[in-house]
Amino acid sequence: MSVFHDAERRLWLLRTPHSSYALRLDDGDCPRAVHWGAPLTLEQAAEIVAPAPRDISSFHGGPSDPELPAQTGASFGPASLQVRFADGAGGVEWRFDGHEIDGGHLRLRLADRHYPLAITLHYRVREDSDVIERWTELSHTGQGEPIEVQRCDSASWSPPRGTRLSHVVGAWSAENQLVREELPVGETVLTSRRGATSHQANPWLMLDDGTATEEQGEVWSAALAWSGSWRITVQRTPFDGVVFTGGAGHEGLRTHLGPGETWTSPVFSGLYGTAGFGGVSHAWHAHVLEHVLPHPQELRPIVYNSWEATWFDVNVDGQLALAKLAASAGAELFVLDDGWFGARVNDWAGLGDWTVNRDRFPQGLGQLIEGVHAYGMRFGLWVEPEMVNPDSDLYRAHPDWVIHMPNRTRTTMRNQLVLNFGRPDVAAWAHEWLDRLVSEHEIDFLKWDFNRSFTEGGWPDSGDPDRLWDAHVRNLYALLDRLRADHPHLRIEGCSGGGGRVDLGMLARVDEVWTSDNTDAVDRVSIQHGFTQVYPVRAMAAWVTDSPNPLTRRLVPLRFRFHVAMAGVLALGGNLTRWSQEELAEAADLVAQYRLIRPVVQHGVVHRLTPPDAPVVGVQYSLGEQVVVFAYRVNTRFGHAPWPLRLRGLDPEARYRDDDTGAEHSGAVLLAHGLPLDRLPRGDYASLVVRLTRM
Ligand code: DGJ
Repeated sequence: MSVFHDAERRLWLLRTPHSSYALRLDDGDCPRAVHWGAPLTLEQAAEIVAPAPRDISSFHGGPSDPELPAQTGASFGPASLQVRFADGAGGVEWRFDGHEIDGGHLRLRLADRHYPLAITLHYRVREDSDVIERWTELSHTGQGEPIEVQRCDSASWSPPRGTRLSHVVGAWSAENQLVREELPVGETVLTSRRGATSHQANPWLMLDDGTATEEQGEVWSAALAWSGSWRITVQRTPFDGVVFTGGAGHEGLRTHLGPGETWTSPVFSGLYGTAGFGGVSHAWHAHVLEHVLPHPQELRPIVYNSWEATWFDVNVDGQLALAKLAASAGAELFVLDDGWFGARVNDWAGLGDWTVNRDRFPQGLGQLIEGVHAYGMRFGLWVEPEMVNPDSDLYRAHPDWVIHMPNRTRTTMRNQLVLNFGRPDVAAWAHEWLDRLVSEHEIDFLKWDFNRSFTEGGWPDSGDPDRLWDAHVRNLYALLDRLRADHPHLRIEGCSGGGGRVDLGMLARVDEVWTSDNTDAVDRVSIQHGFTQVYPVRAMAAWVTDSPNPLTRRLVPLRFRFHVAMAGVLALGGNLTRWSQEELAEAADLVAQYRLIRPVVQHGVVHRLTPPDAPVVGVQYSLGEQVVVFAYRVNTRFGHAPWPLRLRGLDPEARYRDDDTGAEHSGAVLLAHGLPLDRLPRGDYASLVVRLTRM
């Protein structure tokens, strides 16, 4: 049993393997946090006596904070739930209506005392995960006027400590830059107002008391499963109380809940751990593999993607030439990127016209697909279904299909506009052509791109224009779910100009994600470091591209480029027709090496051995008896020999043999002293992969 109830004290306790979460109802039926942290029994949780703070501010922090602050009474913190009724009243006066426990799922049924609003708080725990999933359901249970919903977060969380905040910031081509900083007193907002998850921030956070390390210490973390705009507000009081609330949508949106309607928030999951940031990452990875990703046990194929080779200049002969080289380098799946359809010969035209460009592919896609198959690879195709160029037949026929506002300029970004997937006709159109495309061709893989943010976020004539932000994401999810169900062989790569739409909502519907448009191996080290804080390596696509890198113009040796990409889901993305015979041979050799370590990298436990800017960066993967260690030195400083890399998670009693050299190491020495890096080449851009097997 994982959910316990003390009816007399109106207390509930949820247990995960290594944590527990308790809440209770106060005298006014308001659900309040009691405990989030180490495992407690129901009896122990009952000892935590909290005042019923109906006359104090919600800035109080700590135990007894509302589970969903709703602007009731003397509550001045950021509200999780903001509603407005037709007579002008706002807030919620709670009434408890009962609860249900169904395995690990607790439903707490509440309602407003005076207005026809039912609020169900959901909690779900599982026996094999420390993640506690929480979400909220709102229902209009009456007749008459709609209820205005100004905000409805999925959950508010009250960790008992949390004066340091870890999260990621970034930009296009610079995603997932980890920031670990003292949480300021006041309110800190992490958000995206872009209609998508964003490159700038990502909807997860970790809190600790300033003492946690990669390996030790209590960490409270949370991640939101939502791929649209979002907001997480963290509040720290001068007395170190910490509360955070998060959910879909940015500030200022207003939607209406009509009589009989129910709205369900996305899931905002929390996870507590005592083994530092690394331990929390491991628990998130295990959870995502077990409960989020669609086919977690599969090994991701080695993709070749031709984007950085041919950009928009695609045609059947050029792609077949690349396919031949890619196959001989060891690629297993060939992806034709942008430029294969309509008038899409650059990014100015054709987006939305999803018919094969017959000038470029005179016999349709079939000729290329057959050629790719003949080279022993599967075939994948790029699509960007949610977008349209104004210069397209689609836009000329349906100018009203895009997200827009009356009397406002339709701002283009990358010369494109966003189709309003909230509209059922637009979603149906997209399903129709995608289903046809996948049915008529042997397509095993779609790269699903999304290359701009929402602007002029309106939906004229809908009567409820802000619904767009929610409806777009839900219809996108429904479309992906339906395509996958109807085409079970289909695998999907999520992409948004690189990593602009990576979150637990998207990871439930795609098999991997394109981590960043920045394929420079040096920049990738920190991007990958940030990515793995919550998301698993199994989903982190990493291409080896050309040198100089097309974006940064940095010259980086092939081996270093490979070694960085081999720490994720290795793929090739360079213009192989310009690679020398030696480079192609070295690439084939490195791809073959990756095949050997792929199960360990993709399914193992990842240990970030150093910060991403260490003189020698180390990353370790362990699976069963196998250990793989990557070491990277970008710049040599002073010519000193590198320190040994201390490994993690090994058996100190065991011995480990280096698969390449036969050298033997004791686990105790690898843990305490470290792995000698004498095989790391001298100089800049030096890298090394060490494979160890437990003897
Ligand atoms: C952005 C993606 O991130 C790139 O990999 C590529 O697919 C382009 N879009 C194509 O337009």
